[in-house]
Amino acid sequence: RDRQPIIAIDGPAGAGKSTVARQVAANLNLVYLDTGAMYRAVTWLVLQKGIAIDDECAIAELTNQCKIELTPNQDLQSSVRVWIDGTDVTQAIRTVQVTSIVSAIAAQSAVRQALVKQQQNWGKKGGLVAEGRDIGTHVFPDAEVKIFLTASVGERARRRQEDFNKQGQPEVSLKQLERDIAERDWKDSTRKVSPLQKAADAIEVQTDGLNISEVTAQIVNYYQQRLSQ
Ligand code: CDP
Ligand code: CDP
Repeated sequence: RDRQPIIAIDGPAGAGKSTVARQVAANLNLVYLDTGAMYRAVTWLVLQKGIAIDDECAIAELTNQCKIELTPNQDLQSSVRVWIDGTDVTQAIRTVQVTSIVSAIAAQSAVRQALVKQQQNWGKKGGLVAEGRDIGTHVFPDAEVKIFLTASVGERARRRQEDFNKQGQPEVSLKQLERDIAERDWKDSTRKVSPLQKAADAIEVQTDGLNISEVTAQIVNYYQQRLSQ
C-alpha cells in the first residue's frame, strides 16, 4: 500500500468517539482527525454570518470558501483546537445553539462534498485515526480498521451530563439530553447523503459499562491483530 494505515471510528453522539480516538491515536502515534469539529465549525460560521439554515446555496458557497484548520491541543478540555477563517472556535462550536442545528447543516450535500474532500486530502498519506459518522462507509472506505462505537441512549446522556457538570455548564436534565441525543441520531441516520451507518466490515463495540481505557485497549488490539495478518 502507498499509505500508512487508517483507523475509522463511527457511531452516534456521545458514544465516546472523540475521547477514544484521541487516546488510540496517542497510543499508536497516529494523527487524530475530528470530522465532527469541521461540521460544527461551518455551522458556527453560518450562525455568525446570519445565513438562514435552509439557504443551501449560500451555505455551499461559504463552505467552499472558508478555511478550516485543526491543530493539536494541550489543554484536555477538548481534543483539538479548531479554527475557521483564522478565528479560534474551539469552545464556540460546542454550544447548545451549534449542537442543535449542526445535523441540519451536515445533511446538505454541498457541505459534505467540500468537507469530505478536505478530509480525504488530509488522509492521503494515512497514519490517522479519523472519527465521525461516515468515515468507514464514505470518507475512507479502505481503512484497515473500522470501528462502530455505540452505547445505549441512557448511557450516552449520562456521559454528556457529566461533561456539562465538569465544565460548569448549567444543569440539563437527563430526559432533555436523551431527547436531544435521540433526535440527532435520528437526523444523522435518516439523511439522504451518507447517513450514519455501520459499515459492513466494521467491528461493533458496545461501550455500556466499559471505561475509556478498556475501549481504547480493544481498538489498539484489533489494530495490532489486523496489521500482523
Ligand atoms: O461529539 P458529538 O457526537 O456530539 O458530535 P460530533 O462528532 O461533533 O458531530 C456533530 C454533528 O456533525 C453530528 O451530529 C453530525 O450531524 C455531523 N457529522 C457528520 O455528519 N459526519 C461526520 N463525519 C461527523 C459529524
Ligand atoms: O465523540 P462522542 O460524541 O462520540 O463522545 P465523547 O465526547 O468522546 O464522549 C462523551 C463522554 O463520555 C466523555 O466525557 C467521555 O469521557 C465519556 N466516555 C465514558 O465515560 N466512557 C467511555 N467508554 C467513553 C466515553
